[in-house]
Amino acid sequence: MNKRFLLLLLIYFFSACNPSKKNNQSSIDGYHYSVQKSTLATNGTVVSAHSLASRIGVQIMKEGGNAIDAAIATQLALAVVYPEAGNLGGGGFFVAHLADGRNIAIDFREMAPSAASRDMYIDSTGAARTDLSQNGHLSAGIPGTVAGLFAMMQYAKLPFEKLIQPAIDLAENGFVIGKREASHLNDIRDELFRYNTLTPVFIKNERWQGGDTLIQTDLANTLKRIREKGAPGFYEGETARLIIQEMKRANGIITYNDLKNYKALTREPHTFYYKGYTIIGMPMPSSGGLLLNQMMKMVENRNIGKMGFHSPEATQLMIEVERRAFADRAEYMGDADFYKVPVKALSSDKYLADRMKDYIPGKAGTSTAIKPGDAVPYESAETTHLSILDKDGNAVSVTTTLNNSYGSKTVVGGAGFFLNDEMDDFSIKPGVANMYGAVGGDANAIQPGKRMLSSMAPTIVLKDNVPVIVAGTPGGTTIPTSVFQTLLNIIEFGMTTEEVVNQPKFHHQWQPDEVDLETGFPPAVATQLQKMGYTIKDRTEIGRTEVIRVLPNGKLEGIADRRGEDDAEGW
Ligand code: GLY
Repeated sequence: MNKRFLLLLLIYFFSACNPSKKNNQSSIDGYHYSVQKSTLATNGTVVSAHSLASRIGVQIMKEGGNAIDAAIATQLALAVVYPEAGNLGGGGFFVAHLADGRNIAIDFREMAPSAASRDMYIDSTGAARTDLSQNGHLSAGIPGTVAGLFAMMQYAKLPFEKLIQPAIDLAENGFVIGKREASHLNDIRDELFRYNTLTPVFIKNERWQGGDTLIQTDLANTLKRIREKGAPGFYEGETARLIIQEMKRANGIITYNDLKNYKALTREPHTFYYKGYTIIGMPMPSSGGLLLNQMMKMVENRNIGKMGFHSPEATQLMIEVERRAFADRAEYMGDADFYKVPVKALSSDKYLADRMKDYIPGKAGTSTAIKPGDAVPYESAETTHLSILDKDGNAVSVTTTLNNSYGSKTVVGGAGFFLNDEMDDFSIKPGVANMYGAVGGDANAIQPGKRMLSSMAPTIVLKDNVPVIVAGTPGGTTIPTSVFQTLLNIIEFGMTTEEVVNQPKFHHQWQPDEVDLETGFPPAVATQLQKMGYTIKDRTEIGRTEVIRVLPNGKLEGIADRRGEDDAEGW
């Protein structure tokens, strides 16, 4: 046997013995990576909450995938490297503009289990048990993410095995976590003990440090079952059995049939027009698209661009449209498959003009005086975001969530992933605020099989039917107001993408009647707002906006938010 043949045999032997080398192991190295905040590319761009996930998305495009392939692989990678929001146990929304001109929306929002009921979080004294809707087994809705990924596959080019393999490799071989992840895992240590029946890999004896290795063997096995069996690898068989066992250990109510019957739904995107741009967003059960529509249209004819970015005039106008849109959210918005949401009425030009009749420049409105509008109700009829654009003009905007960071804090024993606490996004009792302070009533009351109202706003903007902006952000109720500011910052204030993403933001949501100002917001403008009568609340961070913009020279500019370890990659 000559030496060269022996060497080849040894290489073959070692790669055959190493399971991570099977199925086209990706070249992404979980132990060596750095964060990149901006990219200027020609062929494709991915902006997401984690460098490894963004790199995997770009790698998939280099290997012949389109933006949808990249979105699937990036989302799966986030489920491994970004456990606080990237997920298998949560849900989300996918908005795409395909190169052939089609606009697509996929709803993979969680659903209330069949045993859920309107008053399930109200105790015998009539008190709302937000402790149960926000943590632990009972707070979980039926997860939608895996069904969503397979619904996306009809627009992908590469086989699913190829798209999931990088995530399996990272779960199995491990990766080093960043400082932010380490600190967040330390922050939830007590809750992890409280809400888990078996000790999850996220608890360790010492405190987590940036640079520590995270290996997730149970999660790798769950991903392999999905690789082998498709969606039934999650919603049936061993993974479903592990979820049901977890439910039984702590009074959860998700059943085997709940899992087996879950479906992701293809919906008509919510589309509207603003000064020559076509804006494509998510319809119900996310309020994101409609709120963005209402807010943009309420400022459209008011020369806001001339007022200037962060001027007291423009800021006040935006606060007041945010207030009015969120008042309507509380009254009218919910899962339109269960409740007739008057979308057309709420977005009509006349209705929105009427909504602004009591707007007084220079004087704060109040949420006691400004109620939900009179929409003719029944006309006929912690979250993470990724933005992707490929060289053929396919654009994908996906926002996905476990609700707050690490969701219910419950990890499915033996399966290695966090369950969501999305049930809290329902209105658990009329007028009782959810964790984001949002209130609601009948439209968003709990019913079995209903999807809880969301604020997620994955958004794509077209000019002449070609994508020019892909944007979105996490942040609960601050999502629509952050995307609103993002679009105005580009279209009206002419800012660079870096400024658009990183400048301080502000937020108003009707109730509570206060304006949240992010750290760094100009103090002089804050003082002016106070003089107008606004109650100001300081907030350290609002959103983590991931934006891709097509520049006039055709280059794809991707900017990842400065607020996290978010990362932009391109090629
Ligand atoms: N869980 C946050 C949202 O869907 O709006």
